[in-house]
Parts: sequence; structure tokens; C-alpha cells
Amino acid sequence: MEKLNLAIFISGRGSNMQALIGACMTPDFPARVAVVISNNPEAQGLNIAAAQEIPVATVNHKDYANKAEFENALQQVLSEYHIDLICLAGFMRLLSSEFIADWPNKIINIHPSLLPAYKGLDTHERVLADGASESGCSVHFVTSGMDEGPVILQKKVPVFPDDTVQMLTTRILEQEHIIYPLAVRFIAEGRIRTIDGKSEIQ
Ligand code: GAR
Repeated sequence: MEKLNLAIFISGRGSNMQALIGACMTPDFPARVAVVISNNPEAQGLNIAAAQEIPVATVNHKDYANKAEFENALQQVLSEYHIDLICLAGFMRLLSSEFIADWPNKIINIHPSLLPAYKGLDTHERVLADGASESGCSVHFVTSGMDEGPVILQKKVPVFPDDTVQMLTTRILEQEHIIYPLAVRFIAEGRIRTIDGKSEIQ
């Protein structure tokens, strides 16, 4: 079977990107990382990918007059690398609904909460402030609402009364690195069906 060609969009550290690169290095994994794209030229993940001979591209939103031009530049890179699936991995720009419409069910994201709870930023701070007893992470298809779209996989973790943001971040990130490659595998194997805005694994 042809491997799925992935583009990974990052803005920073790139630990989820690395989890995907690592998974793709396993011979039987049904996807390959064709390119890593960052909007931030300083993203640590760019160096990490380049050191493993993964093609990288910087498309800095600050270099473009508006979002449409920025996204045109992204589209050019995607077509150059014949991309099948876009994986957002700590990509901190919101994509327009026009861009998303061009990639139906072909953009996925990882978010550090049990969606639909705690969309947006500073999830762990808010979970701790609320005294919640559990949190987790979600991989979901990207639709035009922020952190919305059908959930593909989730993993719960416990939250303990004396947790710090750092402790919760670490506990959840460990699970992100497991479920993100798994979700890509399921998509590549054609095992995800989305009906009426809900995804199921077959
Ligand atoms: C991850 O925790 C990811 O879930 C989160 O940013 C972090 C990126 O870390 N994404 C979001 O908050 C998106 N709304 P990484 O660069 O080490 O993968």
C-alpha cells in the first residue's frame, strides 16, 4: 500500500512532530513525513526535523500582507510535496475556513484536553483552577471552529490535588505522543469513518 504523505505544521518545540517522525520510521507504519512546515522561523522543531533529513519549510505569517497570501504560500508547499494529510502539532495560527474547506477531513490536530472541554489556550491552568479530577488529550479533525471537529482519539489522565502545570503538562504530553501516531495510523488504514460530525474507528 502507498504510504500517506504527511505535512506536519509546527510553531515551537515539536515534540508531537517528533513522535510522528519516530512512528514513521517504523518500517510498517503506513505514513511518511514529507515536510515539516513552521510559521515561526525560530521553532525548535525545525532544527530537530532537519537533523533527521526531513525536508523543512518556513512560511512566516509576518512576511505576508494578509492571511490569504500566507495560506497561498502554505498551499504551494503542500502541493510541491503531494501532501495527503496535514497534522497540526502545536501550530499556533488559526487556518481560515477557505483553507480548511480545501482539505476536507484532511487536517487533524492534537489538543491537550478532553474536547469539547477546555478549547483554546492555557488548558492545564484552567483545569487546575477548576479543581478537575481528570483531563487528557484529543486528536480531532479540524473544522472552521477552533478546537472543534470530530474527535478521532482521546486519552484520559488523572489530575491530582497537588499537581502543578508542569506535572500535568508532562503527564498529558506523554499520552499525546502515543495517540497522535495511532490516529494517523487509523486514518492511513482507512479505519476512520465520519458520519454526522462524529468519527468512529472501524
Ligand atoms: C501540545 O501540548 C499540543 O497539544 C498543544 O501544543 C503543544 C505543542 O507541543 N496544542 C495546542 O494547544 C493546540 N490548540 P509540541 O510542540 O511539543 O508538540
